[in-house]
Amino acid sequence: MAAPHRASPAQPLPFLAPLVALLFLAAATTTAAAAADGVPASNGGMTHLHFYFHEIYTAGPNGTTAAVASPPAGAGGSSFGFGSVSVVDDMLREGADPASRLIGRAQGLTAAASLSEGAITTLLNFVFTDGPYNGSTLALFGRAVLGSVMERPIVGGTGAFRMARGYTHSRMVKSADPDNLLVLEYDAYVLH
Ligand SMILES: *[C@@H]1O[C@H](CO)[C@@H](O)[C@H](O)[C@H]1NC(C)=O
Ligand SMILES: *[C@@H]1O[C@H](CO)[C@@H](O)[C@H](O)[C@H]1NC(C)=O
Repeated sequence: MAAPHRASPAQPLPFLAPLVALLFLAAATTTAAAAADGVPASNGGMTHLHFYFHEIYTAGPNGTTAAVASPPAGAGGSSFGFGSVSVVDDMLREGADPASRLIGRAQGLTAAASLSEGAITTLLNFVFTDGPYNGSTLALFGRAVLGSVMERPIVGGTGAFRMARGYTHSRMVKSADPDNLLVLEYDAYVLH
């Protein structure tokens, strides 16, 4: 597997897939009746989800990222990895501990899309596989700069999250070299 894209030629910054780790915070209060197809109906209000996003950005059997395109030499002055594209299938867990319960995946694309800083554009599907939102997804599209509090729009969803809109706030809690593990804490606020 190829190495993840890099923020600079020398430093493997894992801002690849800052996305999500879903741990449905018990703060979610959806208790609505199921729709005809069995998924929970909209609660007509705001759902708050809290979870942790885990990315293993090393190459290897347990890696969760694949660098699929590197910029041509000299592109954008070769700064900030501009032009790099990666595909990710990252983990969403209840906690920051890598052993905590897996509740979903963050699948999608990240692209280093700024000539002037380490900013990426991300297209991600949060696919929930456990808990009250098992089988439902959220779609995120937005910009992220690792090291800051990242705010990204939620632009849609499926299942319990049909017609979703909202936003996420995330921040890095751990980038644990030499384990090549990036952990982001996520809060998602969803109207659906
Ligand atoms: C991959 O994960 C498995 C299961 O957690 C672990 O036993 C193994 O040591 C890991 N391999 C690497 C290269 O990290
Ligand atoms: C999630 O839903 C799938 C499909 O219905 C089911 O097979 C699986 O057992 C569920 N997982 C959990 C942890 O409930």
